[in-house]
Amino acid sequence: MVTIRDRKEKRMGQLRAEIERHARLYYREGRSEISDFEYDMLLRELEAVELDLGIQDSASPSKKVGDDRIEAFQNYPHSEPMLSLDNAYNQGEIQAFHERLVRLFNTEKLNYIIEPKIDGVAVSLTYEQGHFVRGLTRGNGREGDDVTHNLRTIEGLPLVLKTQPIPEIIEIRGEVYINESDFKTINQTALTSGEKAYKNPRNLASGSIKLLDATETRKRKLRIVLYGIGFCNPANFFTWQEDIHYQIRDWGLPAQAVVLKAETCDELWMRIREMDALRKSLPFATDGAVIKLNTIALQREAGNTAKSPRTMVAYKFASEQAQTVLRDITLQVGRTGVITPVAELEPVDIARTTVSRATLHNNDEIRRKDIRIGDTVIVEKAGEIIPAVIEVVIEKRPPHTQPFDILTRINGKCPACGQPVIQAEGEVAIRCLNLNCPPQLSRKLEFIAGRKALDIENLGTQVAESLTERSLVKDTLDIFAISLDTLATLNLGTDDDPRTFGEKNATKLIKAVERARTLPLSRWIYGLGIPNVGETTAKELSRLHRSFAELKSSTILRNICQKNDCEVAIKASTDKAEKESLKEKKQSIETKLQDYGISPEVGKVTSATVVEFFDSVIGIQLLTRLSELGINPQSDNYNPLPSTDKDVSNTLPLFGKTFVITGTLPNFSRDDAKTLIEKAGGKVSGSVSKQTHYLLAGDAAGSKLTKAVELGITIIDEDELNSLIGEES
Ligand code: IVH
Repeated sequence: MVTIRDRKEKRMGQLRAEIERHARLYYREGRSEISDFEYDMLLRELEAVELDLGIQDSASPSKKVGDDRIEAFQNYPHSEPMLSLDNAYNQGEIQAFHERLVRLFNTEKLNYIIEPKIDGVAVSLTYEQGHFVRGLTRGNGREGDDVTHNLRTIEGLPLVLKTQPIPEIIEIRGEVYINESDFKTINQTALTSGEKAYKNPRNLASGSIKLLDATETRKRKLRIVLYGIGFCNPANFFTWQEDIHYQIRDWGLPAQAVVLKAETCDELWMRIREMDALRKSLPFATDGAVIKLNTIALQREAGNTAKSPRTMVAYKFASEQAQTVLRDITLQVGRTGVITPVAELEPVDIARTTVSRATLHNNDEIRRKDIRIGDTVIVEKAGEIIPAVIEVVIEKRPPHTQPFDILTRINGKCPACGQPVIQAEGEVAIRCLNLNCPPQLSRKLEFIAGRKALDIENLGTQVAESLTERSLVKDTLDIFAISLDTLATLNLGTDDDPRTFGEKNATKLIKAVERARTLPLSRWIYGLGIPNVGETTAKELSRLHRSFAELKSSTILRNICQKNDCEVAIKASTDKAEKESLKEKKQSIETKLQDYGISPEVGKVTSATVVEFFDSVIGIQLLTRLSELGINPQSDNYNPLPSTDKDVSNTLPLFGKTFVITGTLPNFSRDDAKTLIEKAGGKVSGSVSKQTHYLLAGDAAGSKLTKAVELGITIIDEDELNSLIGEES
């Protein structure tokens, strides 16, 4: 008879074999068939089964770290074992870690540091009397492979420690990695010489550290970050974990660039989220945040489990990529007529949300990545960014798939209105030129009614679609002439299943439309959806002009265009005298423009687009229609010459400071933060440039954060913004 115990023992055996196989692939061959998370779940199941059976076996993979040793290398023992870290996957597990320590030390007062978890290959470097003598891989944790020859190829790794004090002997631990751009170049070279491409920088790093020929290794451009210590004589050289980072830097070794601190469990969680935002700007791949108790005496007191220190834990960030099947490609017509391909996906969970659609950007992207219906694709969803298809898993391509091309699929006609489409020369976008194309018109209507534009409550996607599909609105401004009755009886359902908008909703909408007539000019400018004119630009334009009439005949914008024309002509001219006169002309325009203090948002491209828009047939018709409707919006922030004004704004705390906001803020919406900054006299811009003073970064900040780090711009959080303004947070 098979007992429950037999079944559990069998499962234990299966789990051990499976875990050992995956560990071998990962540590010895530098590749993996399952994600870290799946591997960890197998380990957790094994631990649970062993606990249940009362089995304690030091040979079990639940009790030992992996083994990276290979035949060709000489082994040396680590003076202090190289352990692994326990993983945490959610806030609850972080809290449990903290509470365990609170119980252990019988105090709530704990001090943590939080640092990036580098996704590389662990190594231990021994320095004797300050000289690098040997570098080992982790091996089986007790002894590792001697990779000294390969570590010596790392640029920026000093072979002699630079400053005193220096311990007699010290094992310094860290992670070897290859950065993204070197990885790409190396892979390119591999491909051109007919070799296979490496899957990711970690695989390449782990293969490279195990090369026998160091001249080959040098070509792999290995890098290193050092973050910890093993054996150290004298043993009490360090008191705080954070000192290790400072000392590593002082010795001239590559150290962790980001180390955060926390004292409470809530703070710990906040810092972990912050690290998730910051890690994208780091030069190496990271897969988590490592939390370490800062007090080394307490670390010693708590000691280690079979595999890991009790006072450290690795919080693993949710993977932002997943594989799924591309069921279909649909085509959407946007506000500006651009036809966008959308991936219709087999629903898949990514970073804790279900994703069933992703953007495919445009025809060129589809062609470049050779994305075909039926393919298995890798989809990425990072923070607030719209999910996107990253690449095709070619090995999984089913037979008989066809390359996809938008123009072929739509046969040259707009999928919504059937009118011809064009792809302008040098442009990737395919556009429907029919301004009355219903989805285009519907999105324009929705846009002008949006909260940041004319804020017309009750005019959402459904109402906009019904109005345009039924030709009740043929031009966005028709909404100002629509009757209550038409709206009240508007059918939001289908002919078979009608659902009327109703009198109450219609009345609300009409009221909002009436209110919109007198809203400030900036909201109107923004609502028109002129290319390159966002909210900030619209505000700047309304600071410089009182009305649409002034904007249409703007000399300021024409001067900016002329200045640009001069610059182009100066570059093109070969005649010295002509060059000089052009320079003079440019100078005189600059002088004229100087006093307006125009923000970088209103540059040559925007100015040209705005001038062109109001000179175009559409622009002229729009202004005529507005005057027929008796609508004449006025600027509410008109102040074209700010510096000559005795303006109170220059006494405000953020006067003269430009901010960019990115990511999700813990307490404010981005709009709230913007209003707050503007009230305090600051400006908010949409893109990071040298003119930016501060980047206000929240959770899941992306490329703006990277750019700000590159430009050395001060990065602040919500609390720091509050203290700049002088308010209590
Ligand atoms: S501390 C007792 N700090 O992650 C081990 N490890 O999954 C102490 N790792 O074996 C390690 N970044 O190879 C530490 N900032 C960091 C790290 C880090 C990456 C690696 C390390 C460790 C593995 C555990």
